[in-house]
Amino acid sequence: MAKVIKYEFVEELMRKMTLSEKIGQMYQTNYEGSAQTGPAIDTSKTMDLIKEGKLGSILSLYDNDTIKRLQLAAVNTKNKIPLLFCNDIIHGCRTMLPINLAMSTSWNPKLVEESSKMVAYEASHSGVQVTFSPMVNLSRDPRWGRVMESNGEDVYLSKELTKSYIKGYQQGNLKSENSIGACIKHFAAYGAAIGGRDYDGVDMSEGELFNNYLDPYKEAIKCDVAMMMSSFNSYNGIPAVANKYLLDDVLRKKLGFNKVVITDYASVNELRKHKVAKDEKESAYLAIKAKNDIEMASTNYLDSLEELVKCGMVSESEIDEACRRVLNLKYELGLFENPLKNIYSDFPKYWLKDESRAIAKKMADESIVLLENDGVLPLKKEKVSFIGPFVKEKKVVGAWGGKCDYNDTVTIYEALNNKNKKYSYALGSNIFDTSEELISEAINVSKKSSVVILTVGEEQWMSGESHSRALLDLPSSQERLIDEITNLGKKVILIIFAGRPLVLTKYKKMYLEGKISAILYAWYLGTESGNTIVDTLYGVNNPSAKLTMSFPYDVGQIPVYYNHLPSGRPIEDKNNTDYCLRYIDMPLEPLYPFGYGLSYSEVKYGKIELDKDKLFDNSKITVSISITNTSSVKTKEVVEMYIEAMYGVVSRPVRELKGFNKVLLKPGETKKVSFTINKDTLSYYKGSKKVNCYGKYRVYLVSDSSKENFVEIDYSKNTK
Ligand code: NOJ
Repeated sequence: MAKVIKYEFVEELMRKMTLSEKIGQMYQTNYEGSAQTGPAIDTSKTMDLIKEGKLGSILSLYDNDTIKRLQLAAVNTKNKIPLLFCNDIIHGCRTMLPINLAMSTSWNPKLVEESSKMVAYEASHSGVQVTFSPMVNLSRDPRWGRVMESNGEDVYLSKELTKSYIKGYQQGNLKSENSIGACIKHFAAYGAAIGGRDYDGVDMSEGELFNNYLDPYKEAIKCDVAMMMSSFNSYNGIPAVANKYLLDDVLRKKLGFNKVVITDYASVNELRKHKVAKDEKESAYLAIKAKNDIEMASTNYLDSLEELVKCGMVSESEIDEACRRVLNLKYELGLFENPLKNIYSDFPKYWLKDESRAIAKKMADESIVLLENDGVLPLKKEKVSFIGPFVKEKKVVGAWGGKCDYNDTVTIYEALNNKNKKYSYALGSNIFDTSEELISEAINVSKKSSVVILTVGEEQWMSGESHSRALLDLPSSQERLIDEITNLGKKVILIIFAGRPLVLTKYKKMYLEGKISAILYAWYLGTESGNTIVDTLYGVNNPSAKLTMSFPYDVGQIPVYYNHLPSGRPIEDKNNTDYCLRYIDMPLEPLYPFGYGLSYSEVKYGKIELDKDKLFDNSKITVSISITNTSSVKTKEVVEMYIEAMYGVVSRPVRELKGFNKVLLKPGETKKVSFTINKDTLSYYKGSKKVNCYGKYRVYLVSDSSKENFVEIDYSKNTK
């Protein structure tokens, strides 16, 4: 394990601290009125603990005056140790960005960095010193409500975006007045919960963990991430928070993480519910032995660690190690020099600046996905009507709204008016219910127009923590509305709001039958939602987002993801599929594949060029392609590079993303896009061991994971 730094200042301080004061640094709690994301906890003693110097940090407090009062009380104690204030600033502080899953569909790491920098600017003036973000749990199951916080189903893309989040938040300088510390979460494999049920268990091979789950954390460690959170799920029979293999052998020893590990909310208490600990003492024992430095919300450390030290089950040096990490972080954040850092009484002044809204708009523009379009979009001079519950809906921010105020959200309705558009409107249905009057009003309004824009979707609280769904459809009142409107023979554009991929098979069928003309997936786009949607409809914004989770054909297909392992019995002859890998009642392929998304332009892919087709351990190959925008509007195209190992020492996924590049193309412009391949590009884990997989590979340069356009290369050890 990488050694923990010893700052003389911190060492000097620790020499003066009692055991119970050190244990106090290892406790994080809520304070009156702060959000509690789990069983309610008693916060009546928070102030007493601060005064006794027995509290290290506070979570989820949003009121700067209270934060200031508590901080002043903390530095007024014997050791003068400032508190650390942590918050869930996940996709925006006050200016809200799209949900993280939507942001990942931008495939734009630079823009994600710029966006997180904007978030850090607002948060660092709003009493936040560390944010519990980014959430990098690989998400292959759209039933899981937390996919909305994730970067989707691919580890390579997630790794690249993790870098952006951390650089944006921390800006390479934790002391800066515009930066905040990042806490990457949750370690590990939380997104693989059985059945997509939040908090359920995970059973996973080491190879799977190392190949598909760990890279974002490794990247975060390289970027000097300030904190890491252990997860709620059990991993191979042991809850992550007590899992020495995960937290000590892998995270501390193998990945070399030597900063603060914080537990998730009351997860040390939950060791009893997991049935691996009989009481508080044993829970505290398991969590400290797994090397969690801070216990969040529950009080097992506070109540039992001293006793565990006294009876010799935990050594004082283990407490020192954890306490040192916490104090080091406070030191690195500059809190000892300025305990009121990030605490401003005029904080609203830093919110919703024009520049911040402009970044949120740019991000929203690159996060809206065009799934289908028969040419109706962008809108021309038609008579349009807007129908459905989301035209005037302000709650299109998604879960984890930071300090958002829904009044800030620009709705579609407001954007239409601000942009002086001519349109008619009817509600048609609320999110969960409708009436004959609402339906007939919507029909009447639609009849008078030639294009109907129908806004439908999940209510924003249907995704997020603890919001798993077994059915991925729309509320029935909205389905009824769609049926009524699509029967009118008008051109219908469906705009879907959701925190996860929904099952859209019925609507795709309607598209193929000509009953629906276009489908736009709007996720929850945040503060600038309406502006982006209207600009996209009218062609001011050319959509460029591409899916980062496969959209299932039906719930029964889940989990469905592009980088699955090959089968010994793939379908090779479509006319003879008996005894092949298949479903007898639905396709194997998802409805929309990973990496898929349309724009208003057509981009032609040329032939792939290689500078050589043999790779050795000490060489590299450059692979390139020319792409041409054959349309008359500028566009951004994501070129995706996948590899396919044709044979090797271990069976590998049918495709693996190994590079991507988002390129701006003027009308008629051609650009050459190049990628480098070396032995690291092709290496793979066999168990926890990285191996060079010599053999033959296909390299694909394509517009989505289902496209065929490849060249072959050979990789061997021979350097001659
Ligand atoms: C529980 C969630 O799992 C975690 O992501 C969050 O940061 C904490 N609660 C604190 O709110």
